[in-house]
Amino acid sequence: MERCAHWLVDEPEALRGRWAEVFPGFREIRLELGCGKGRFTAGQAAAEPDVLLLALEKVPDAMVVAMERAAAQGLENVRFLDRDAGLLGELFAPGEVAGLYINFCDPWPKSRDAKLRLTAPGFLRRYADLLPVGAAICFKTDNAPLFAWSVGQLRAEGWRLEHVTDDLHADGPVGVMTDYEAKFYDQGVKIHRLEAVRTASTKTTAAGPVPRLRNASLTDARGFEESRETAGKEKET
Ligand SMILES: C[S@@+](CC[C@H](N)C(=O)[O-])C[C@H]1O[C@@H](n2cnc3c(N)ncnc32)[C@H](O)[C@@H]1O
Repeated sequence: MERCAHWLVDEPEALRGRWAEVFPGFREIRLELGCGKGRFTAGQAAAEPDVLLLALEKVPDAMVVAMERAAAQGLENVRFLDRDAGLLGELFAPGEVAGLYINFCDPWPKSRDAKLRLTAPGFLRRYADLLPVGAAICFKTDNAPLFAWSVGQLRAEGWRLEHVTDDLHADGPVGVMTDYEAKFYDQGVKIHRLEAVRTASTKTTAAGPVPRLRNASLTDARGFEESRETAGKEKET
């Protein structure tokens, strides 16, 4: 971790609303959720040096590999945040992020865990808080049931879907591949991809209850609970 300290943002909460001021000179700021070992992070940052790419990852061991990749390439337009996606609202002000990448997120196949999927309504509303109208989420997965479910959630939450495909690489490799994607591509597994554009009618957290962290753990996404009850109690007090 020390070798890559330059690429780690130690206290990202302190930069909320000030990212462009602290990292000046970039055309826009984009965010990658769950960057893992960072093949996509490094490739995407290298492809667009005028965009600041912030990569969020809750598992430090994976993030160190990603940071070493960025360091080895001397990429100055990428930084890493050792945080859980459930905390986005504490890291970014409304409209501060111009685009979001969600690549091969954990599918959480059991229905009782559905709210932990990064495309669940509670997360989508947090993303809508951060993204300005017209900005998009780029979502890729190998998991067909997760993709179909996510399409339904995005539509219900008021996102406009574009470039939806069930076989991204049908005519040969497209775009920057992630570590998982490269492995699946070699195995001939089809990759699903879509872009979801935030519109004026996309639901935000103001639209209703969202999952809340039961405790202040930064590293464990488990512990979310539906907040309908809690929200009601908060209003009463
Ligand atoms: C299946 S891996 C995919 C990694 C990489 N995106 C790729 O495509 O190669 C999912 C990654 O997302 C991270 N992750 C899952 N939930 C997260 C959350 N709530 N906040 C931050 N990272 C998360 C995991 O630790 C893991 O590294």
